[in-house]
Amino acid sequence: MDDQDHCETIETAFPELDRIADTDLREGVIDAWSASMADNGVTDLEAVPWFPPAQRDLDLPDERLVSHVRDVTRGALVLAEILTERRTVDVSFDLLVAGALVHDISKLHEFNGMESTAIERLLGHPHYGVHVVSAAGLGPEVAHIVLAHTRRTAVAPATIEAELVRRADEAAAAAIRARALSDLRNG
Ligand SMILES: [Fe+2]
Repeated sequence: MDDQDHCETIETAFPELDRIADTDLREGVIDAWSASMADNGVTDLEAVPWFPPAQRDLDLPDERLVSHVRDVTRGALVLAEILTERRTVDVSFDLLVAGALVHDISKLHEFNGMESTAIERLLGHPHYGVHVVSAAGLGPEVAHIVLAHTRRTAVAPATIEAELVRRADEAAAAAIRARALSDLRNG
């Protein structure tokens, strides 16, 4: 699979890329995914699981990363559209979509199929994503969204874009967990 094939796969997987107006930002997101696929020998992007340890615990083998990333991106967009409707708040929709699309990109490096790699064991989720997006030329605002999207890091969201991606991710992850749990406090 060459770079052009990766590019087409990524654009097909994530139609939300069209919501990024800035060409460099859009290309940076595609480059980050393309490099991650190449580095990890991923050819079937749609087959990549959402989060293997949780899927094992919950017995939900069919959840996929691409669907989750799209849920988070669309969820963050809907939140941003509602919250900016009746007040002046400066949300960058470009940054929001770019950050949402790469928030879990480290998972391509953290897992080989359902198995953890040294990156997951030694660095944990989602720290390596900061390296991946930075290497693709995306700036610290995008890296911050990656780093602050989960309580697994000690970094809280500093920007409205990071906050919205984190909330959308929590909601999307809860929707997956709710498939297996009648009480979300139990897992
Ligand atoms: Fe996520």
